[in-house]
Amino acid sequence: MTDRDTEPTSPAIDPQSVDPDVAARRLAHESLEKDDPTAWFERLYSAAEDGQAVVPWDRGGAHPLLSDWVQTAEPDGTGKQALVVGAGTGWDAELVADLGYETTAFDISPTAIETAKRAHPNTKATYQTADLLNPPTDWHRAFDLVVEIYTVQALPIALQAEATKRVGEFVRVGGSLLVIAAARADDEPDSAVEGPPWPLTRAGIDAFAIGDLRLIQLDRSPSPNDPALYRWRAEYLRD
Ligand SMILES: C[S@@+](CC[C@H](N)C(=O)[O-])C[C@H]1O[C@@H](n2cnc3c(N)ncnc32)[C@H](O)[C@@H]1O
Repeated sequence: MTDRDTEPTSPAIDPQSVDPDVAARRLAHESLEKDDPTAWFERLYSAAEDGQAVVPWDRGGAHPLLSDWVQTAEPDGTGKQALVVGAGTGWDAELVADLGYETTAFDISPTAIETAKRAHPNTKATYQTADLLNPPTDWHRAFDLVVEIYTVQALPIALQAEATKRVGEFVRVGGSLLVIAAARADDEPDSAVEGPPWPLTRAGIDAFAIGDLRLIQLDRSPSPNDPALYRWRAEYLRD
């Protein structure tokens, strides 16, 4: 993983004058050009730490579709274990931990993990650096609830099948997976998507359902920020 000592953040980022999405995309494209498609996350969080960037997806609270699912499903995490994938600054992990789950939250960016720990000093969750594409082996089928929000779509399409498979493998028998992702039409070709993000097609949502992991609920709803954009919320159960 690239760190800020070996790869300094771009001095051109001015958080006051640059759209955070544009600045993040610029970092992403620099990483992609170097064939290192995940290096930009650490560069972005690190620049944000230094006041040189804004993390565009940091909502300062749990994702509304996760909050809504919690209100409806009322899951009781007592005595259960949860994993939050690509946890960023930790808002979703905090909600999950407050449900009683023994919660592990991971991200590939060490600075994101440090930022999450600092933002939630009284957290009940355990935050750690890990790579979804090379996760700890003891996470295999180890969790009652796995929450994946906007991580697979943040990876280039060529990596999404592997990332999708890895996410599903964390779910234990009897456990659930909740996926929230930007949606794209099945007939929109991969070549037409200029990510990040690379939103998921319906086929991409179905791809989480490998073997005995079944899709049990799927919603597609417009984004409150831009009604032309849609998000998936998919729930899976491993029998
Ligand atoms: C678009 S952000 C979403 C963050 C958070 N889930 C949210 O919804 O606010 C994608 C996150 O996935 C993390 N990430 C990207 N690739 C990863 C990987 N291979 N393993 C673990 N985390 C990864 C990034 O560092 C970033 O925090």
